[in-house]
Amino acid sequence: MFKVIVTDPISETGLQALHAHQEFDVEQRTNLTPDELIDKIKDYDALIVRSQTQVTREVIQAADRLKVIARAGVGVDNINIDAATEKGIIVINAPAGNTIAATEHTLAMMLSLARNIPQAYGSLTSGRWDRKHFKGVELYQKTLGVVGMGRIGTEVAKRAKGFQMNILGYDPFLTEDRAKKLGIIKASLDEIAEKADFITVHTPLTAETRGLIDAAYLAKTKKGVRLVNCARGGIIDEQALVDAVNSGHVAGAAIDVFEHEPPENTGLTNNPNIIVTPHLGASTEEAQEKVAQSVSEEIVEIFTTGAVQHA
Ligand code: NAD
Ligand code: MLT
Repeated sequence: MFKVIVTDPISETGLQALHAHQEFDVEQRTNLTPDELIDKIKDYDALIVRSQTQVTREVIQAADRLKVIARAGVGVDNINIDAATEKGIIVINAPAGNTIAATEHTLAMMLSLARNIPQAYGSLTSGRWDRKHFKGVELYQKTLGVVGMGRIGTEVAKRAKGFQMNILGYDPFLTEDRAKKLGIIKASLDEIAEKADFITVHTPLTAETRGLIDAAYLAKTKKGVRLVNCARGGIIDEQALVDAVNSGHVAGAAIDVFEHEPPENTGLTNNPNIIVTPHLGASTEEAQEKVAQSVSEEIVEIFTTGAVQHA
């Protein structure tokens, strides 16, 4: 019997691949404290998480029989990969299951930002009829800088073209040929700063991308630029963003992800020009089913055949 523990909310339908096999015993424990997880983890062969559970070195050190840590999503920044590797534990993710959900959330955030929809909703539902405070801007013929042209960045660029935006893409792996095929312009980060009306980030959070958009970079951007972060908190330096919005240099921002979740920087969450959602990029029925199914099927593969796809 292989024992699997699920410590963040995961689609039950997506877990069917595991339930269908008698060799797997699946336990859902979504409210464990870090100490409780450290205490329990020694009894399990596989751990399934989303972004909330912090799979720290301490958790991994206590994991006597753990073979697989599965991230039902893309980013593995909540898992201590070095500690897992040292212990020979395989870390897998579900890289493509939530691409469309995160893409659509990015577009929803960009439109909401451009048209002040959350602010106008808040105003009307508080009993006011105020039209003059919520004049927005159009996306049409504006320039969008996409930082990180992987799965989500590419899908965002394709859809933004539908709004007839001009797209500048920055990614170390973006070739001129691919940019041409996508109908976008390959650009440097500085070119994006100089020309973009909207900037959206879609990189992983790494040592290199932490603070990629910092105070110095924001100072180079066009006055009135709007920023979107549906990737990872910390890629855009939170305090630098708050300062740039408060100074009026940045017109507004739409943020789904935070350096600490729940967020600690109230300058970000109580700002009339910054709209926020609580890490909802992947929160669609479809995406949650796909990522749960992807990791479930891969866990079955690993324990029954030894094959690994998304390590
Ligand atoms: P991906 O791996 O397909 O794409 C990431 C891209 O970033 C790659 O093309 C890579 O070359 C590029 N990149 C890496 N370092 C860079 C740098 N310094 N500058 C520019 N580009 C760089 O990943 P993805 O599936 O597109 O996901 C992108 C991000 O979105 C990840 O951080 C992921 O965790 C996050 N995400 C968030 C949500 C959410 O709920 N908000 C949902 C899904 C994914
Ligand atoms: C991801 O990296 O896949 C996202 O953060 C989605 C999530 O797990 O909520």
